[in-house]
Amino acid sequence: MSISIALTKGRLEQETIKILDKAKFDPSELKNKGRKLVFKDKTQDIDYFLVKAADSITYVEHGVADLGVVGKDTILEYDNNCYEVLDLGFGKCGFIVASLPENDIFKKVGHIKIGTKYPKVAKDYFKKKGMDVEVIKIEGSVELAPILGLCDGIVDIMETGTTLKENGLVVLDRICEISARLIVNRASFKMKQAEIGNFIERIKEVINN
Ligand code: PRP
Repeated sequence: MSISIALTKGRLEQETIKILDKAKFDPSELKNKGRKLVFKDKTQDIDYFLVKAADSITYVEHGVADLGVVGKDTILEYDNNCYEVLDLGFGKCGFIVASLPENDIFKKVGHIKIGTKYPKVAKDYFKKKGMDVEVIKIEGSVELAPILGLCDGIVDIMETGTTLKENGLVVLDRICEISARLIVNRASFKMKQAEIGNFIERIKEVINN
């Protein structure tokens, strides 16, 4: 039986291709993709799709893709019922809370506004802390928001820390660690046990070495 895999484009794309290569799959079409969005593995019966992170979860959840490669940040933000079967070990970063040094939100009295691309993660975090904050959804360049006064602090992902540093923001807390994960549709996991099991095993072998 054929299997299909929804890959996350952007940040995780190159590392995903590397791992597929190492595991002796054929991601060659993904390397010269042009504007194509569906790619065939010429060595076996696998289709790869290239989509935005959240859509990868949606495709897998609906069984349109059997497997997906997606960041733990997206998994934490979008509730889903897929199986998370492997930590792929790349795309490592962390969820952090940051602000301008003179506006430490943990010392602030009164109304606190948090800008983020991850409203659920931010709400869950502050709820656990017992802090009542207003969460403002931002689509990108989150570090700009506290500088312009849209919010007091941000919840975002940090990889190298360069973006925070270059914009004069400081980390106040590290919420959790993040990396790319392999997810599987629940029904596919049963129906295509052999194919999916084989895929997982081959990927496991290369990430453990
Ligand atoms: C992410 C994140 C930070 C930056 C962190 O944004 O939201 O802005 O990367 O990386 P660093 O710690 O290595 O500097 P992304 O590049 O995905 O852009 P966007 O916010 O504009 O979508």
